[in-house]
Parts: sequence; C-alpha cells; structure tokens
Amino acid sequence: MFGGKTLIASLLLALPIGGDLRADTPAPQADSLEVETFTCAVLLYRFDRNQDGELNKNERAAVREAFGQLDVPMLPTKPHRYLDAKVPSYISATVLESMDNTPEDNPITDAGAALGRVLFYDRQLSQNGTTACASCHPQEKAFSDPRQFSLGFESGNTNRNSMSLVNLRYTVLLGRHPGFFWDERAPTLEAQVLIPIQDKVEMGMELPELENKLQQLPYYPPLFEAAFGSPQVTRDGISKAVAQFMRAMTSFDSRFDRAAAATGGDDYSADFKDFTAEENLGKSLFIDGVAGVTEIGCAHCHVPPTFSMPKSFNTGLDLYYVDQGLGARGLPPNDPLTPSNDGKFRASSLRNVALTAPYMHDGRFKTLERVVEHYSDGVHPHVNLELAFNEDSSDTTSTSGFRMTPTQKSAIVAFLKTLTDESLLTDPRFSDPFVRLAE
Ligand code: HEC
Ligand code: HEC
Repeated sequence: MFGGKTLIASLLLALPIGGDLRADTPAPQADSLEVETFTCAVLLYRFDRNQDGELNKNERAAVREAFGQLDVPMLPTKPHRYLDAKVPSYISATVLESMDNTPEDNPITDAGAALGRVLFYDRQLSQNGTTACASCHPQEKAFSDPRQFSLGFESGNTNRNSMSLVNLRYTVLLGRHPGFFWDERAPTLEAQVLIPIQDKVEMGMELPELENKLQQLPYYPPLFEAAFGSPQVTRDGISKAVAQFMRAMTSFDSRFDRAAAATGGDDYSADFKDFTAEENLGKSLFIDGVAGVTEIGCAHCHVPPTFSMPKSFNTGLDLYYVDQGLGARGLPPNDPLTPSNDGKFRASSLRNVALTAPYMHDGRFKTLERVVEHYSDGVHPHVNLELAFNEDSSDTTSTSGFRMTPTQKSAIVAFLKTLTDESLLTDPRFSDPFVRLAE
C-alpha cells in the first residue's frame, strides 16, 4: 500500500474510487511513507466510504485508527501556492523589498511553507500533545489570542498577551530590524520559532526530544524530504519551515488597501474616495496627528502600509511598569533622548486590530475605544515617554497625549476597523490541516 508515488498513483487509477483499502492496513512506519499518503486525494480515496467528498466523524475515526490513533494532516492534492504574496499595486516593489526580512538561506518555498503549516497546527510540538502554536494564535482572530494571557500546555498562563502574526515578513522599517516579541528578544523569525517550543509554560519541549518525537510521526519524514531534501527532522528545519509559513501570512486585502489602491499611489494623507467622512477624519488623525495638539500621528510609530513598528517605544501606560519590556534586557537606550528602555515595547502590526482584542503587552484594554481613551487622556509622564506625546506641552511634568474630542476618538476607531482583512481569516493556505475527531 505505501510503496511509492507510482504505486499510489497506479492504485488510484486501477481501483474504483471508494474501494476499501482499509481493512487490514497496519499502523504504517514513518520511514516508508510518501507525502502523497497525506493528500486529500489519497485520504479521501481510502477513507471517504460514503463518497461525499469529506470525512465524517466515523471516517475520521478510521483515519486515526489506521495511523495508530494520531491526528494526521490532510494536505491539498495540488499543493498550495505560498510564493505569490498578493500585494496591491499602490505599494511599490521597492518599498516592499526594503521591508522584507527574508534571509538568503531561507526563501519561502511551497513545500517548506506546507511543512511549516503542519508544524504550526501540530499539538505534538508540546510536551503532552495538547498545545500547538495555533492554540494561542488562532486564524479566526488574525492569529492572536482572545484571552488576556494564553494557556500553556499545562494550563499555566503566559505573562504577556499573545501577538497577531501578519506581515511578519515585512518588518524592516526606516532601515531598522526590530526583533520579534513585545521586548524584541528574538532577532529573527527563525530564532523566534524555537522559543515558545522550549518555553516552560507554553510548550515545554527540549530540542533533542522534539526532533526524536517528530521523527517517529509518520508524516514528518516525507514532509521534511519534500521541503529540505532529507527525511531527517532537525531543529533547523523546524524553525526554517515555520518561519517560511509565517512569512507567507501576508495581509493586504482590507478596506484600507482597496481604498488606497482606488485613490492611487501611497500618499496616505490624501482623502480616500471610498472612505466615509468619518473614516477619512480618523485616517487623517492617525497619519498626520491632531491639529493643535500634536503634529505627529499614530503613524509615527505604527507605520503604514504594514502598520508595524520600527522599534520599541514607551507609551506612558504606567508611571511604574510591572513588566519593563525592552528595559529588562539590559541594552543601552534605543533612543538617546531617553534615559533607559524601561517600559518600552514593540507592538505587532495594527492590521486586523479590530479582531485582536485585548490590547497592549498585558492585554489590559478590552476595546479599541479604551486604547484610544488612553492615548487621549491617560498617558502618564514616564521618563522614557516618546516625545511625540508631549511635543506641544510647555509643562514637562505633564503630557498632552493626543487629546481628542469624542468625535475624533470615534473617527480613529472607525479608521482602525478599515484595517481588517476578512480573506485572511478563512484562507485555506493558513487553516488547520489536521484530520481531528470532533472538537
Ligand atoms: C501558550 C501560548 C503560545 C504558544 C503555544 C505559542 N505562542 Fe507565540 N506568542 C505567545 C505570546 C504570549 C507572545 C508574546 C510573548 C512575549 O512578547 O513575550 C507570542 C509571540 C509570538 C510571536 C511574535 C510576533 C511579533 O510580532 O513579534 C511570534 C512570531 C509567535 N508568537 C509565533 C509562535 C509560533 C511559531 C509558535 C509555535 C512554535 C508559538 N508562537 C506558540 C503565545 C504563544
Ligand atoms: C510613540 C509611539 C506610538 C504612538 C505615537 C502611538 N502608538 Fe500605539 N502603540 C505603541 C506601542 C509601543 C504599543 C504597545 C504598548 C504596550 O503594550 O506597552 C502600542 C499599542 C497600540 C495598540 C494595541 C496593539 C495590540 O496589538 O495590542 C493600538 C490599537 C494602538 N497602539 C493604536 C494607536 C493609535 C490609535 C495611536 C494614535 C492615537 C497610537 N497607537 C499612537 C506605540 C505608539
């Protein structure tokens, strides 16, 4: 049964669809399988007994039984395309290239990202088989967690709010390469991947143990072979494949993008003709600031078109921070005008922000209205506060924040809601590939 591509292909041709190959199939050996074994064509052919084109509960149970009670992935028969990022034409190729952090030794390939997808959704990456990356980064929430703090493999809480994972490929801004995480502690996406896996709260694995465990699972040797030319499961391959998958998660199909494209060009200050008056007001406040209060907009830190940040900033959430963020890492100040890095954080992209509540590194705000309230009326005069907040204030002991009227506050929220990309939330390329029993 598990002979090879040609054998499976000829079986497919020779036998009537729906023929029962199941009966006496032993749990297969990991090193004798082909990627094709885990495609829709073969799994449906073998297990879709009522031939309705999908696997019902009993059929799913049969798949698990055939593979030794494992969840196995069901991959598209025609591999997904991860290469062509759909980027609207108003973003020039030069701008796009300048933001790209793809390293030379890890370009995205379809097979690499397909392996990354399986790894991202695989609960076997955690100590007790309960927790996948996707557990704390679900697709329907733009890959962020609706919980204030996420639950790790033994139900322990993370000490920060999960971050959304879009456009992680495009993070180089103004020539700066900010690190990943709220405190920038992962210098590259490749380095980032292995951190949650080994985290004592999140997934709790040691790397040698991880490599051994995955090597024994029937679907990894063929997926590694397809992605990297060898069936050997390595930590390097794991980190590269997941990084490729995450780099492929681009999001440029929001109302903001369509309106920018319709207006033409990347002058984000000009009114967009497809925006409502309120959205245009919000956009102008966001990009150019609040007239008479600050001439620096939110975009000073959340830079379009990705709306991600070039470095960490202090936003005056507290006068005394419990979590010092970048400040806890013992680095020299990232800005000569501030005495230290205490209370500085790097937020992820604001794209899809309407879906990624709660907000801030500790998930303290439940709504966007509450976030905007903070910027308008709640900014504390922390010594490391970014100048953008008090440039107009003659009194250096207080801050002006972005003082806004109720109308302006609602307009900013309306604008933030235009950054939602619905297509990302259901894109099959980024969905859970596993055949699971009913959840
Ligand atoms: C138990 C929950 C949990 C699991 C499991 C988890 N994450 Fe996260 N993720 C988080 C939290 C919380 C943060 C923010 C952590 C911090 O800044 O200290 C985060 C941050 C990130 C970031 C940083 C994004 C940015 O913009 O800087 C990436 C990338 C990421 N996770 C990817 C992954 C991958 C890949 C996996 C699986 C290998 C994974 N996560 C597993 C909770 C989780
Ligand atoms: C000086 C830089 C700076 C400016 C200006 C700024 N922000 Fe932020 N923003 C940040 C930082 C840093 C964080 C993360 C803060 C934290 O968690 O401690 C953040 C967080 C956010 C978040 C939550 C993101 C998340 O994933 O939880 C939203 C929403 C947001 N900002 C919107 C705005 C809006 C709207 C404005 C303008 C009124 C604005 N920001 C101005 C730096 C800035």
